[in-house]
Amino acid sequence: MSFTSGTSNPLTRSFATDTPIPSAGTLMAPFSESETLKRVKPSPTLAVTAKARALAREGKKVISLGAGEPDFDTPENICDAAIKAIKRGETRYTDVDGIPELKAAIVAKFKRENGLDYATTQVSVSPGGKPVIYNAMMASVNVGDEVIIPAPYWVSYPDMVLLAGGTPVFAVGEMADGFKLKPETLEAAITPKTKWLILNSPSNPSGAAYTEAELKALGEVLKKHPQVWILTDDMYEHLIFDGFKYTTIAQVVPELYGRTLTMNGVSKAYSMTGWRIGYCAGPEPLIKAMSKIISQSTSNPCSIAQWAAVEALNGPQDFIPERAAVFQKRRDLVVAGLNACEGITCPTPEGAFYVYPSIEGVIGKTAPSGKVIMTDEDFASELLQTETVAVVHGAAFGLSPFFRISYATSEAVLTEACERIQRFCASLK
Ligand SMILES: Cc1ncc(COP(=O)(O)O)c(C=O)c1O
Repeated sequence: MSFTSGTSNPLTRSFATDTPIPSAGTLMAPFSESETLKRVKPSPTLAVTAKARALAREGKKVISLGAGEPDFDTPENICDAAIKAIKRGETRYTDVDGIPELKAAIVAKFKRENGLDYATTQVSVSPGGKPVIYNAMMASVNVGDEVIIPAPYWVSYPDMVLLAGGTPVFAVGEMADGFKLKPETLEAAITPKTKWLILNSPSNPSGAAYTEAELKALGEVLKKHPQVWILTDDMYEHLIFDGFKYTTIAQVVPELYGRTLTMNGVSKAYSMTGWRIGYCAGPEPLIKAMSKIISQSTSNPCSIAQWAAVEALNGPQDFIPERAAVFQKRRDLVVAGLNACEGITCPTPEGAFYVYPSIEGVIGKTAPSGKVIMTDEDFASELLQTETVAVVHGAAFGLSPFFRISYATSEAVLTEACERIQRFCASLK
């Protein structure tokens, strides 16, 4: 059907004569958030990025060290695989938790890199690592269940647990222990209600990575508590430095294989944050339960991105250590630059692209604005106002007084950022 003039189109006519066209000012029905949503807070890392953008719009030369994504491009062979997939017509719905080819590539990856045997029925793919964790929580956590989260933690874990109706229980890893969870701290945190322990190595925000011996020591505790499942977030597996030997818990404590969900993704290792592919492998009943959630919520991850991920996992891997070496150089630059600041102590992390320095030495000092710095939030806010460097305050990750820097940017930018932070610290009285 085609219309030749506005008056012969019934839709146009009815809007023009009878129905007021809704506008932004139209009175809306009162909206209130669900009780579940009221329990969670928006991502603080995204809030920092938004503040930095607002200052940049005012014309300020902002250095933003808040974002957690590699500054490298997705390798060309992976982009080409996606283009070929489009041209082949791989543009339709797929199996909800991943195409067989990607599941096979994931099985091969776990065997090749982690010595772990999984069947494709034990594998699930989601639109990013984030939904993998969310789906695992939604599929398994009941109201009153506790989930142990070592602090400092990646910002999304506690809120995902809350969304699922569970209770996050924080177990602190001290700076003196490289921010890693000690077996006795884990033991003290476990109760009959503990459903999960979430491990993350290398860690966002501290960059700390667990050695094989450290994982085995945690395994000894976990073996005594068969009700506790383990979700290991191995997202930064390939960003490790100084020849660190990476291992994952199901590999080094085989007794835990039957209650471990090993999670990973292509976002960080392959610079594919925007493609949205995360995956996991674990016991089949859990994978099936997650698939039920996927089928009634997001459905399959983008078909084209799945084919790109097949190429990422099966294709050449040689650029990964090359990129890790670039990150190691940047880490060394940032650690040295921050340790040259009065009042800051910056440990040297084993992996990821974050540092998590202590600002214990600046607490109680007065900024040029006259504000006394009492918290790491004050520090981050004054640093942003005074020197326009955006960092994320440690309280967002559950351990103060610290801040997180993402060094996924050029050496020139990092050098300038360190100079500004040094100048800021020197200006504190
Ligand atoms: C520790 C950790 N896990 C999971 C994710 C989520 O990854 P994705 O972007 O694939 O959802 C991130 C992203 O920042 C992360 O830092």
